[in-house]
Amino acid sequence: MQAFENYDDNLEHSIWLSLLYPRFELLRELLSEDGTMFVHIDDNELGYLTVILDEIFGRKNRTHTVAFKQGSATGHKAINPGMVNTCNFILSYAKNKNKWQPKKVFTERLRDDRYNQFIENFEEDYKSWRLLPLSQAFADHCGIPKRELKKALGDVFERKITTFVTDNAHRVIQSVRPDYNNVGEEIKQAIDFSKKNPDEVHLLERNRLTDMYFKGGQRWIFYREKLKNIDGKLVTGEPLTTFWADLLSNNLHKEGDVVFPKSKKPESLIKRVIELSSDEGDIVLDSFLGSGTTAAVAQKMRRRFIGIELGNHAVTHCQPRLKRVVDGEQGGVSKAVNWEGGGGFHFCTLGDAVFDEYGCLNSEIKFPTLASHIWYLETKTPLGSKADTPLLGAHNDTAYYLLYNGILGDRRPAGGNVLTSKVLNNLPDIDKHERIVIYGESSRLGEARLKQANITFKQIPYDVGTL
Ligand SMILES: C[S@@+](CC[C@H](N)C(=O)[O-])C[C@H]1O[C@@H](n2cnc3c(N)ncnc32)[C@H](O)[C@@H]1O
Repeated sequence: MQAFENYDDNLEHSIWLSLLYPRFELLRELLSEDGTMFVHIDDNELGYLTVILDEIFGRKNRTHTVAFKQGSATGHKAINPGMVNTCNFILSYAKNKNKWQPKKVFTERLRDDRYNQFIENFEEDYKSWRLLPLSQAFADHCGIPKRELKKALGDVFERKITTFVTDNAHRVIQSVRPDYNNVGEEIKQAIDFSKKNPDEVHLLERNRLTDMYFKGGQRWIFYREKLKNIDGKLVTGEPLTTFWADLLSNNLHKEGDVVFPKSKKPESLIKRVIELSSDEGDIVLDSFLGSGTTAAVAQKMRRRFIGIELGNHAVTHCQPRLKRVVDGEQGGVSKAVNWEGGGGFHFCTLGDAVFDEYGCLNSEIKFPTLASHIWYLETKTPLGSKADTPLLGAHNDTAYYLLYNGILGDRRPAGGNVLTSKVLNNLPDIDKHERIVIYGESSRLGEARLKQANITFKQIPYDVGTL
């Protein structure tokens, strides 16, 4: 968690921990019941953070500790003796492990060269299938004698044979010995049958499960079962592990067209955690938005997002980056997720806190802040106007007025904040609305008078609720 950059590790370690604690408690509250929280941390703080989060989330809700390879053993770090630190960590917690449903994610791996046989006559009836070594089939395909193949293809050998295997995955196989004692009766019978009839391939068809092929008591497994569609490409896949070494980006400093040295996360990393934990339309929250990576990737992956950033880079980095994403920016993970632009976002600036830590109205707040709060409270829409008159606006045939801070020009304490006949007559457009809601310190008008003018009076601070 690099949210707090200016702390001295030794001196202010406990301050760091106490800053984090309440924030994580709040984040946990905001998380949906089946949600996941991911926290990126370096090795210095990993142990301490784990203890804090175990306490807040419950140890049983800690789902994984991922080692994320973020650097290489090169450059100045590699000069000193001893080990070179190249890893960061990602802690993942479920809000409630019983309701948590992580997704199945695959990553690309190198070709599995144990699949080294090729069905020569695949077009014929499966019973008469014959095998050829894969290397021979590939040599025939290239038109190069087998013993000269590696030399002739040199550096591109592996790439070419991988393409050949992927294109022919339905006829590239590995022959394995089944674990006879640990399989069901049906499979045992198929193995026995194929041993008794060693010249033909035997097929065991299975309802809703992969069909099985046997020859001479051996099972044939097909390369096609290893292929996964990753980012729109059919490749050799394996289930994601907790060691992420495949996300190093040479281009990180350029991603999103924003300069954010040191702290910027690769889009591919955020894509992975979003992929693991959410569906399209779900909400992703990053309360330390930095250069805006999480919001950018969430938008590209068609998730809704909330990003919070304290620094001015909310304006200089996040906002322009997101505008470019909406316009179809093609860097980072755009191609992998087939992003062509679209959607939009709201950019909001937090005003002064309306309530203090005890829930009391903050007496320091100025008219526009309270006006925005009340307008939102009443209408659930942002206040569009400048908030420089007591009339905040009208919504659904109701006009809203606020008497506060001497808005009518009377600067005496509480001047103009009390609803009297004189104040009422001076309120702008007061006779133009069907229904009226007025907020003020108190009202000197009687019930009957208010009712006659269709006015609902609400008293500050008692009727100013939290959102
Ligand atoms: C390490 S950066 C995040 C980098 C980000 N993941 C990215 O890829 O660009 C942490 C950010 O948290 C912000 N921050 C720190 N305290 C905050 C707070 N209380 N509320 C919102 N943002 C905060 C800092 O300004 C900094 O930009």
